[in-house]
Amino acid sequence: MNDPRALHSSVAHDGHDDRHYGAVHTPIYDTSLFTFPSVASMERAAADEGTYVYSRGNNPTVRALENKLAELEGGERARCFATGMGAISAAVLSSVRAGEHIVCVDQAYGPARELMGGYLRRLEIWTTFVDGRDLAAVEAAIRPETKLLYLESPTSLFFELQDLRRCASLARARGIRTIVDNTYATPCHQNPLAFGIDLVVHSLTKYAGGHSDAMGGVVVGSAAAVEALSRSELVLLGSVMLPQTAALIMRGLRTLPLRMERHQAGGMAVAAYLDSLPFVDRVHYPGLSSHPQLELAHAQMSGFGGLLSFEAGDDRERLVRFVDALDYFRIGFSWGGYESLASLQEGRAGSPRTRRQAVRLYVGLEEREDLIGDLANAFRAAGF
Ligand SMILES: Cc1ncc(COP(=O)(O)O)c(C=O)c1O
Repeated sequence: MNDPRALHSSVAHDGHDDRHYGAVHTPIYDTSLFTFPSVASMERAAADEGTYVYSRGNNPTVRALENKLAELEGGERARCFATGMGAISAAVLSSVRAGEHIVCVDQAYGPARELMGGYLRRLEIWTTFVDGRDLAAVEAAIRPETKLLYLESPTSLFFELQDLRRCASLARARGIRTIVDNTYATPCHQNPLAFGIDLVVHSLTKYAGGHSDAMGGVVVGSAAAVEALSRSELVLLGSVMLPQTAALIMRGLRTLPLRMERHQAGGMAVAAYLDSLPFVDRVHYPGLSSHPQLELAHAQMSGFGGLLSFEAGDDRERLVRFVDALDYFRIGFSWGGYESLASLQEGRAGSPRTRRQAVRLYVGLEEREDLIGDLANAFRAAGF
């Protein structure tokens, strides 16, 4: 949902719902099961996806969050999971069978890569990893048995993009399902379903929850595709979201567009500051005018968040000293909360691919001047 006015109204408004006595915030239905006055009514409920029987299948608090996320992403149906990886595993497993093949972007989130490139081999499902910026490479990797194109745009260390419209039409013409991990952009800044992508997955642990106090994931798409994985991977593997978590994430969503505006303003300021430093070799941030895919970024995203990275030489000890000297930026891997974070990471980037180390920064909600001052002090302390 890229229209900012629609976004603010959507997260703030649920409509009146008599089933919850008009409660403005959907109550936490802290119950594992629902009971019925008769066998006949229980049997009717069990056959109806819209009613509540057992909380591993359906729970009203979780359902309210699913409906809101489907609305924000422009999908017919959403299902929530215990974590982002729960959502990713379910979406991938529902898309492929033994003997079939996946094409996946080589910079996808590590555990998602490990699922496809490692774990699924024991089920005889094979994966080819490609540089997702190169549509010809994506096309060349497709085989007759390819059933899934797995994308993550932008990627979350070097912030490379895939052309989502062109990937969707390439895959659709060949009967291949597409999945996009949209965690970086959030529904505020990118809606892959509108480009013809089949399923969107998110780690709700990041921006959607927004307060570093809850883990969750979601799959959004057509009713048919999402209900199919809901009957199998969700219920059988059981990685379901708890109602308490759904309430926390719903609370986070209420301020998501507001927070994204501030993360973006901070991200832009920090990226521009880093870009101005003579000892910084490269800044990776899709909103920066020097980003090599800037045109594509503006064609498919309406904004950028607070996550970015930079490279500054290959002296690892000096980079470690820099990260250790930071004060506002706490040292940690995740992102999407209120607090700024830093980590030193390695990955393959460039063309041809080479192993590179980068400092990843997550710009939280603190004052920009404090954060830039913190970075300047740490650079000095580390001897840059
Ligand atoms: C881009 C991306 N996708 C998915 C995940 C997995 O989410 P979770 O940790 O909620 O399982 C992460 C977690 O860091 C992530 O960064």
